Amino acid sequence: MRDRNGILPLDAAQGSVVRRDLRIGDILAAEGKLDRAGIEQVIRLQESRGVRFGEAALRLQLITLEDLRAALAKQYDYPYLPADGDAFSADLAVSRDALHPNAEQLRALRTQLLIQWSKLEREPRALAIASPGSFEGRSYVTANLAVLFAQLGLRTLIIDADFRAPRQFEIFNVSDRVGLSAVLSGRAGHEAAMPVPAFGPLAVLPAGARPPNPQELLLRPALTTFLQLARNEYDVILIDTPPARENADAQSVAFSAGSVLVLARANHTRIDDAAGLVRDFRDAGALVVGTALNRF
Ligand SMILES: Nc1ncnc2c1ncn2[C@@H]1O[C@H](COP(=O)(O)OP(=O)(O)OP(=O)(O)O)[C@@H](O)[C@H]1O
Ligand SMILES: [Mg+2]
Repeated sequence: MRDRNGILPLDAAQGSVVRRDLRIGDILAAEGKLDRAGIEQVIRLQESRGVRFGEAALRLQLITLEDLRAALAKQYDYPYLPADGDAFSADLAVSRDALHPNAEQLRALRTQLLIQWSKLEREPRALAIASPGSFEGRSYVTANLAVLFAQLGLRTLIIDADFRAPRQFEIFNVSDRVGLSAVLSGRAGHEAAMPVPAFGPLAVLPAGARPPNPQELLLRPALTTFLQLARNEYDVILIDTPPARENADAQSVAFSAGSVLVLARANHTRIDDAAGLVRDFRDAGALVVGTALNRF
């Protein structure tokens, strides 16, 4: 649901909006973005038009959209990094910014996954993110979902199991020197996962040095063993994978993880390919927790 300005409602629950609006006003005042006269003006507009505090302040041009986003981030306690001087990939804008057009869908996906997982006996949750072909948004969805899980306070680990085109190190601006390849070949332990404190309890295990034999490495029991250990330390483990149509890497990962989310990119992924992939995963004994259409 969206209002005329394309700004997402702050809270769907009746009654809590006013309290939250007051808090937004408090935050903006504390930041020196609004003075007493400004707050009174905003409240008058709010009362006459029935709009939210932030929206009224925007309409009056007393604050900028950037001010509102930063204040919302404070109110909801999620990391907000301004557009400039940003060490992280622009791909993360979605999960960091509650007002981003894609944020609502990603949060809905997070909710669906939490509901699915709550029905499972096996906890915590390790999930492979897979899709048939390249450039379908697996890395993007993995990264943003992970940030959203961490925002809930869940200890979240991203594992980049795409040895062919790894991207998570780049998205989170961490070193790719030591990663999953070293862990699977016994040269590193779980400490190779790098915390990214800007996003709360989130850590990234990059792919690491490119192995000559990715398929063989991913088939080793080392992956299952590592995931078992990681399950003690993390509540959610999301695993980025290479295109499933090209080789069996994603199958191996999904099997070790136990569950998989299948992505299809709108007007790009062939329906047959996505459906075939779902079947293959099921045949391989991985639970397909859902399918998601990525539209971009
Ligand atoms: N929902 C989306 N909205 C906007 N941009 C998106 C979306 N999903 C993906 N992208 C963009 O598309 C590009 C490809 O996405 P991404 O790298 O996640 O795909 P991939 O499936 O992991 O590709 P690869 O086969 O290279 O691993 C990225 O630049 C990303 O920013
Ligand atoms: Mg990728």
